[in-house]
Amino acid sequence: MRQTAQRKVQMLRAEIEEHNRRYYEEAAPTITDQEYDALYRELVDLEKEFPEFNSTDSPTHKVGGVPLKSFAQVTHRAPMLSLENTYSEEEVRDFYRRLERVLPGKKIPVVIEPKVDGVAVSLLYEAGQLRYAATRGDGTVGDDITQNVRTIRSVPVRLKGSAPSILEVRGEVFMHKEGFAKLNAARAEDGLPVFANPRNAAAGSLKQLDPGIAAQRPLGVIFYGTGQLEGAELIRHTDLFPLFRRLGLPAGERWWIAESLEETLRAIHELNQVRHGFAYQTDGAVVKIDSFAQRELLGFTAKSPRWAIAFKYEAERADTRLLDILVQVGRTGVLTPVAALEPVTVGGSRVARATLHNEEEIQRKDIRIGDTVVIEKAGDVIPAVVSVRMELRTGAEREFHMPKNCPECGSLVQKDEGQVAVRCVNAQCPAQLRRRISHFASRGAMDIEGLGEAMVAQMVEHRLLRDVSDIYRLDATRLGELERVGEKSISNLLEAIARSKTRPLWRLIFGLGILHAGVSASRALADHFQNLQGLMDSSVDELQRISEVGEVVGQSIHTFFQEPANRALIARLATADVHLDDGEPGPISAADSSFRQGTWVITGTLSQPRDEIAEAIIARGGKVSGSVSKKTGYVLAGEDAGGKLEKAKKLGVRVLSEAEFRAMLL
Ligand code: IVH
Repeated sequence: MRQTAQRKVQMLRAEIEEHNRRYYEEAAPTITDQEYDALYRELVDLEKEFPEFNSTDSPTHKVGGVPLKSFAQVTHRAPMLSLENTYSEEEVRDFYRRLERVLPGKKIPVVIEPKVDGVAVSLLYEAGQLRYAATRGDGTVGDDITQNVRTIRSVPVRLKGSAPSILEVRGEVFMHKEGFAKLNAARAEDGLPVFANPRNAAAGSLKQLDPGIAAQRPLGVIFYGTGQLEGAELIRHTDLFPLFRRLGLPAGERWWIAESLEETLRAIHELNQVRHGFAYQTDGAVVKIDSFAQRELLGFTAKSPRWAIAFKYEAERADTRLLDILVQVGRTGVLTPVAALEPVTVGGSRVARATLHNEEEIQRKDIRIGDTVVIEKAGDVIPAVVSVRMELRTGAEREFHMPKNCPECGSLVQKDEGQVAVRCVNAQCPAQLRRRISHFASRGAMDIEGLGEAMVAQMVEHRLLRDVSDIYRLDATRLGELERVGEKSISNLLEAIARSKTRPLWRLIFGLGILHAGVSASRALADHFQNLQGLMDSSVDELQRISEVGEVVGQSIHTFFQEPANRALIARLATADVHLDDGEPGPISAADSSFRQGTWVITGTLSQPRDEIAEAIIARGGKVSGSVSKKTGYVLAGEDAGGKLEKAKKLGVRVLSEAEFRAMLL
């Protein structure tokens, strides 16, 4: 049964890919939309039933297409309005006065929700199937951005359970704050312009005609309302939350209900205390009447409903002095100016550094050393210099110019044609080397515990490391030369290095630090080629056909592997027995072989997030599933494990505690 299902999944994927190609690339489909949808639905259902066969390269996770020439237009079923903004308690009081005028003496429960600072979207589900996703546009007609929205992992292509016949659902696409910080850092590193905040980054991602770009961006969505709705009865806004949960549509994690002005103001205040901890940026609170019947009595103005308002929080900013501008050298040699600030508290944490991105940015804002500057946290995470308090200038401030020589190695720096970034082109520059090696060893790449930036810096200084392959030539004698590194840490480090040799291929590809090749492109490349040789020998055309890769990334990867020095590096990694082939895993240790017996189910509370544990299992050749059956090999049960543990016991499936599992990993 399971094998038949696996074969069927593979067949469906191949078939759907082929229809995607005919539809998107040749604009010559050979089946009707209904036939296509039937195939698609069958695959979605099978992947749901057998989650162990789910794979990120399935067409259900990807968009089919190549870049579009322009967006089609979509007319919203119900108009998309905006909200009246308020900035003070007084204005919230006015709102309450208006409510009480229309509904005198009535209880008027309101809901207070985070105002997500992203891009408004409207998605139409018919019989549970996503038909399209559109931007707000002018409120009546928006752009069809279905291809991009489908790349967002948390957007279901098909709703769970029994769905309403028509559901036009409204929400906000956002960029994860942490992902935004990483994206900007990578863009600055690559000499690309940075986004001012996560909202601009999300908007920029959704406006791309090539869905491969949106697919690489850390986007998410929060739904907060509906447009047209048929086949479900709702009497109040708070009915939406259980409905969304049942259908698999993500909603905000916190909301408050209030029955008076005082309670409303308290909720607005509480939200302001907790919102910095959310994964998405928020810029206010939305106050909306809960009861739909009461909403109807209030009605609309031309632009916005009278039953809701947005309360905007003040952006958290602080003034401080710019003491100096330092210059850092990144992994690819890009020089980045960094502001050294008199420490100041902003957005709940102390800030002493802020990125200035590049020289143009400094000139545009006319930032000078010694200035009093205004600091804000872009997207709640990265401190940025917003502007200069010109009125406080004394005349003693100094202009900043990028150095002509690399501050680390002294080589002349270069500016590429048409680029803003200035680069140190000395491949042996110790600063670049440190960054490249730290990136290779980092948790997101080869995950070598104990090989952090400070350790790498010492090793580069002692000439123990000249490139990443030298990591695998380290031994206890050489490491003994380092200062303040004890025997125990040396043996731990060598063990961590040995363990890193069998990491999945995508980690190695990502670890190589190829310009523009992020995690999702690296995963897609590993899935497609299965081994590094295939990737090294591929043509630009073949690379660009992979949907997460696209033009720029494809070209960059090709150039990287054409470079003889990089090919030599790969050869050295191969002789050091680093795993370069996902298809043919190296010798399986006794421990690893037990990971391959049946699927794994993870349940209960564990000391590490479940997806990290799942990754450790997958890295050892295991498969992870969401439900316990006779085919389950192991159930890893944490604290408070419930139904799955019961079922495992009933079926006689082997149950492991976290401690037993950790022992297997060693
Ligand atoms: S309710 C009739 N709830 O803010 C409009 N909007 O300035 C009802 N937004 O257009 C909108 N978070 O794009 C609502 N929890 C939330 C929201 C939210 C963000 C956006 C939305 C809206 C804009 C209004």
